Amino acid sequence: MKYHRIAFERVSCALAFGVLVALLWMPALALAQVELLTDAKVAQIPAGPQPIRFSHQIHAGQDLISCEYCHIYARRSDVAGVPPVRICMGCHQLVGQQLMEVQKVVKYWTDQTPIPWVKIFDVPDFVRFAHFKHVTANNEVYPNGVQCQTCHGPIETMPTTVKQDANFGTMGWCLQCHLTIPGMMERKRAEPASEGSAFLKNAKTPKGHYRPHLTDCLTCHK
Ligand code: HEC
Ligand code: HEC
Ligand code: HEC
Ligand code: HEC
Ligand code: HEC
Repeated sequence: MKYHRIAFERVSCALAFGVLVALLWMPALALAQVELLTDAKVAQIPAGPQPIRFSHQIHAGQDLISCEYCHIYARRSDVAGVPPVRICMGCHQLVGQQLMEVQKVVKYWTDQTPIPWVKIFDVPDFVRFAHFKHVTANNEVYPNGVQCQTCHGPIETMPTTVKQDANFGTMGWCLQCHLTIPGMMERKRAEPASEGSAFLKNAKTPKGHYRPHLTDCLTCHK
């Protein structure tokens, strides 16, 4: 019950914050004299496989909305997640209502139906992949986490979300990166080793935490 209540407060808090963001948007748009989009311009966005012509180029590129404002779970859990419709409505309650594609979003909201987005970046279910471990990584090669773009490409330039790297998600693609990280293979060997051993040193992050063994089959396969 307690858990449920917290979840509800989070929802209303996110909605209120969204409306606030939208309110800040309106004068910003007016001041910058940004030309509002028209259906004709939106129709130029290639349709792709999605139920709505959603453009990262407009939202993340032009309007500079941060990736994690919409993909809220990337830092906290295994999945980054596509945004729930309430996040869209935080802005689209007020913005873009002149557009047919935005009216589709509003329709999903009033029907309380999730938008059936098609998944573009995928690995098989037998692979263990954890977004948060990457987004919050802290080591010599990635002291501030791995950027979304390092794996997904320049999403903020894409009118239609596409997978540009054909190797994305293959085992070789994962290992090619894991092999660049110092100490990534030493953890298992290091654990029984004595304090001060070179292996043990390499096996720790700058904060002194043990690193996982990044090429061990069981790190990625259950
Ligand atoms: C922080 C504010 C904000 C959020 C959140 C937001 N949008 Fe937008 N969106 C905008 C703005 C600003 C425009 C441009 C409106 C205009 O020019 O009239 C826009 C335009 C659009 C358009 C027309 C252009 C295009 O991309 O095809 C669609 C469709 C759209 N949004 C869908 C969505 C969906 C779906 C979500 C939720 C996943 C969402 N938006 C979340 C601010 C937002
Ligand atoms: C306004 C909300 C919004 C923002 C901001 C946003 N996204 Fe998205 N993202 C979406 C929606 C909606 C989808 C599903 C539709 C699609 O694939 O285009 C999506 C899909 C994706 C996908 C593909 C997911 C799949 O199905 O495989 C990736 C990768 C992604 N976003 C990364 C990013 C990155 C990186 C940024 C920042 C540069 C970003 N997104 C900013 C709303 C957003
Ligand atoms: C180390 C590479 C890597 C990084 C960094 C990364 N992703 Fe992903 N992303 C993946 C992989 C691999 C998948 C497919 C996961 C699956 O199918 O289980 C994926 C899937 C997704 C999806 C589809 C939905 C899901 O969760 O499966 C979205 C959306 C997404 N990523 C957004 C982001 C955003 C936003 C960031 C930055 C905050 C980010 N990713 C950082 C590799 C990465
Ligand atoms: C661009 C570099 C990069 C790519 C590509 C990449 N990873 Fe990683 N991965 C990392 C980093 C950095 C860490 C965190 C290492 C550390 O703890 O310092 C990590 C950690 C992990 C962990 C967490 C291990 C643990 O228990 O803490 C798993 C699981 C993992 N990766 C799986 C994958 C899979 C599966 C793929 C391919 C689908 C992949 N990674 C692709 C850089 C990458
Ligand atoms: C860094 C993550 C990672 C590590 C470590 C890793 N794998 Fe994989 N493995 C993957 C990914 C991702 C796929 C899915 C690739 C694809 O579908 O193209 C995969 C696919 C496979 C497949 C193919 C399964 C099938 O049915 O297609 C086998 C077999 C496999 N791995 C065995 C291993 C073995 C054995 C090891 C240890 C020596 C290992 N893997 C270590 C990420 C990893």
